[in-house]
Amino acid sequence: MNILQCEKVTKTYKMGQTTVTALDGVDLAVEKGEFVAVVGASGSGKSTLLHMLGGVDRPTSGTIKIEDTDISTLSEKQLSVFRRRKVGLIYQFYNLIPTLDVRQNILLPVLLDGQKPDEESFRELADTLGLTDRLHHLPAQLSGGQQQRAAIGRALIYRPAVLLADEPTGNLDRKNSGEIMALLKLSNKRYHQTVVLITHDEKIALEADRIILIEDGKIVSQGKNSPGPKSCSDNKNIPDGKAVSDGKAVPDGKNASNGKTVSDRKNAPGRSAEGGNAL
Ligand SMILES: Nc1ncnc2c1ncn2[C@@H]1O[C@H](COP(=O)(O)OP(=O)(O)O)[C@@H](O)[C@H]1O
Ligand SMILES: [Mg+2]
Repeated sequence: MNILQCEKVTKTYKMGQTTVTALDGVDLAVEKGEFVAVVGASGSGKSTLLHMLGGVDRPTSGTIKIEDTDISTLSEKQLSVFRRRKVGLIYQFYNLIPTLDVRQNILLPVLLDGQKPDEESFRELADTLGLTDRLHHLPAQLSGGQQQRAAIGRALIYRPAVLLADEPTGNLDRKNSGEIMALLKLSNKRYHQTVVLITHDEKIALEADRIILIEDGKIVSQGKNSPGPKSCSDNKNIPDGKAVSDGKAVPDGKNASNGKTVSDRKNAPGRSAEGGNAL
């Protein structure tokens, strides 16, 4: 089943006398549960495509369907509600609200909807993200990796139809990049979360189900990656099998966040970095 489909999508920007064609007749279908990587040179149209797919901006022409909704038929107000509930967006620079703490940032889509948060699933999500002991910190009081984890929490709080990520590891070091990728892949593999990820990291792209290559606003290839065991949940990006958190291992080997030993975690799916049903 296609969860996302776009046909003949074109986006042009008028810049004075000149017109920039950022997207030029893009056809794309993404199945539910697919993990798709988007690659291409700088300026090729990757971010523009993601913005169109997420309803952040509207195409000049063409149609985009998410689940059964043609998003071009929605008013601005309907689109913003749809976006909040159905699309999770993650950016390179996190885009957290600086005056809200981690808990409020993660719950923002729910609070904007005037809903009461489900505290139990929130706690599980925070634990999976390794942010339980940072919930009342402001973004400026967090490391880059922690900020991105909070942004992932916000993107996933509604279990969106699609998670769209624009170079989410572009501002992080290798260790933090690995942890962020492990979380995205965990949500995809274990919870069937559909993910479209822009990356310039070839290694990351090769772990996707499919790589879409964009050149000058056109998709020029979208080959399937060869099937085989994905490394989504084998935790190879997480040193020592520790939680995706900085709930540091305390001296007796227990993890600060829930008291499970590090070695317990390795073989205990369903918790923290390796599991939890929060994502
Ligand atoms: N808001 C905008 N106004 C004018 N031109 C834009 C705008 N956004 C993007 N572009 C142009 O569209 C093209 C694609 O940009 P973008 O999607 O950001 O590329 P990428 O993410 O692949 O680096 C570029 O030539 C860029 O300069
Ligand atoms: Mg870009």
